[in-house]
Amino acid sequence: MSAKKYDRELGIRTVGLREWSGQTHYNRYEATPYEALDTLFRSYNVRRHKRVVDFGCGRGRVAFYIHRRFQVPVVGIEANDKTYDEALSNKASYRVKARHISAPIRLKYGLAEHYEIRPHDTCFYFFNPFSSEVFKKVLANIMASVEETPRTIDLVLYYPLAEYKKEVKRYPFRKINKIRVPGAEDRYEKFIIYRLSA
Ligand SMILES: C[S@@+](CC[C@H](N)C(=O)[O-])C[C@H]1O[C@@H](n2cnc3c(N)ncnc32)[C@H](O)[C@@H]1O
Repeated sequence: MSAKKYDRELGIRTVGLREWSGQTHYNRYEATPYEALDTLFRSYNVRRHKRVVDFGCGRGRVAFYIHRRFQVPVVGIEANDKTYDEALSNKASYRVKARHISAPIRLKYGLAEHYEIRPHDTCFYFFNPFSSEVFKKVLANIMASVEETPRTIDLVLYYPLAEYKKEVKRYPFRKINKIRVPGAEDRYEKFIIYRLSA
């Protein structure tokens, strides 16, 4: 099924790219392919989580997909104002279709590195949103939160670059799964899931 068709089913518009101008640490908008999400959730149980955080949620594809399919609370954080506005429009049109789902969806405008991690945030999704320097700060915030409120958490990395993996290795995470996207030509088109157990 084409991405536009998936979008139509969710009542959202997430196809396309948006570049930043004059930004070296923040990466462009590009959504995780729906086929990749279908592959991930064939083997990854997201229902175990109290809330999923998408750092750099863009127009919200991952958040809406998870919310609709698994009815799990989600939060997306986006720093680009135009992209954030598009995510909000998507939320309005999505909610018309998903009125019956009581789990909340929160979209926050701001920098991922300034997001205050909550004790019920247990799954953290990253599709290569920013430089490893920013990722390092976000990881430090996650670890500070886990120290304060011990719990089991997962990091889900799509398109995992070496510098991200290096940052994760500084902490006692276990790699619990590596999921390749079938038919992908690019070796980075895969998910790595890390778990830190309480
Ligand atoms: C590759 S896209 C991923 C979008 C979405 N997570 C998905 O997988 O469909 C990365 C997004 O992160 C946003 N971003 C970049 N740096 C950010 C930051 N420091 N804080 C919040 N969002 C950021 C970009 O504007 C972009 O929309």
